[in-house]
Amino acid sequence: MPLVGTREMFKKAYEGGYAIGAFNVNNMELLQAIVDAGTEERSPLILQVSAGARKYARQEYLIHLVKAAMETTDIPVALHLDHGDSFELCQACVDGGFSSVMIDASHFPFEENVALTKKVVDYTHAKGVPVEAELGKLTSTSDEPGAREAVYTDPDEAVKFVKQTGCDSLAISIGTSHGAYKFKGEATLDFPRLEKIQNLLPGYPIVLHGASSVPAELVEICNKYGGKLPGTRGVPEEFLARAAKMAVCKINVDTDLRIAMTGAIRKAFAENPSEFDPRKYLGPAREAVKQVVKGKVKLFGCAGKA
Ligand code: G3H
Ligand code: 13P
Ligand code: ZN
Repeated sequence: MPLVGTREMFKKAYEGGYAIGAFNVNNMELLQAIVDAGTEERSPLILQVSAGARKYARQEYLIHLVKAAMETTDIPVALHLDHGDSFELCQACVDGGFSSVMIDASHFPFEENVALTKKVVDYTHAKGVPVEAELGKLTSTSDEPGAREAVYTDPDEAVKFVKQTGCDSLAISIGTSHGAYKFKGEATLDFPRLEKIQNLLPGYPIVLHGASSVPAELVEICNKYGGKLPGTRGVPEEFLARAAKMAVCKINVDTDLRIAMTGAIRKAFAENPSEFDPRKYLGPAREAVKQVVKGKVKLFGCAGKA
């Protein structure tokens, strides 16, 4: 199967009331785990590569690994740049064969975010590649409404931003954040804000970053075998299932894969200290990631949609 873009995927997801799982890839084991899980669950997938992953694994390796994976599956798969931070990076990924890119200029003032996003859109659209952009800031906030207001996506600005840039999907801030420590107080997502954005931009695909649930049982495995991850906080699963039925068409997961992989490796090391064959710890790690991805695609509703 050739790689696909995200337009068709998002259209079906929006209409069907589900979201596509977008999973971060850094190496072969993660890639195999994600693609095997998607294939078994008959789920469309978005494989995403961050700037850091691209630097670590190198673009040529990642592209060829993904191409190899595509020979083993018949599900629709998009290869997406996650949090692209410059025009040049987006350009290099599009030219190298990515089927979707994100330009994340959310740290800039509104007008600069618009200008950089528009520049990327103009380049990639000429090549038929869709663009995800971001408006609002993803940080772990305190409970105070004032603190939230400063970082959450403003619905009216979102409309202006989409009109001015022509971006194909928009990552918004409604309370999620990256990593394993997402909430300082009670875990809440601003669903009224999401609903407002959905009403102002009917049919338009919204993206949720920082959407790992940081499951207690995975953290426990890490900690049981020598890890130190105290007081982790993830996004409750019921919030994600609810968002997936709304305008959210793409849900990003990286942290949960990292924790699953690390826990399995720690366990293998602790239980077999005399073992030194990498396959003996990378194999269980791959299997642990696969189980996480299978759970995610069921939760997001994209299982069975390929
Ligand atoms: O949003 C960030 C992703 O989890 C990727 O993280 O930049 O460490 O590869 P990274
Ligand atoms: P998590 O850290 O919650 O897995 O979020 C990943 C993400 O948003 C990647 O862009
Ligand atoms: Zn992200």
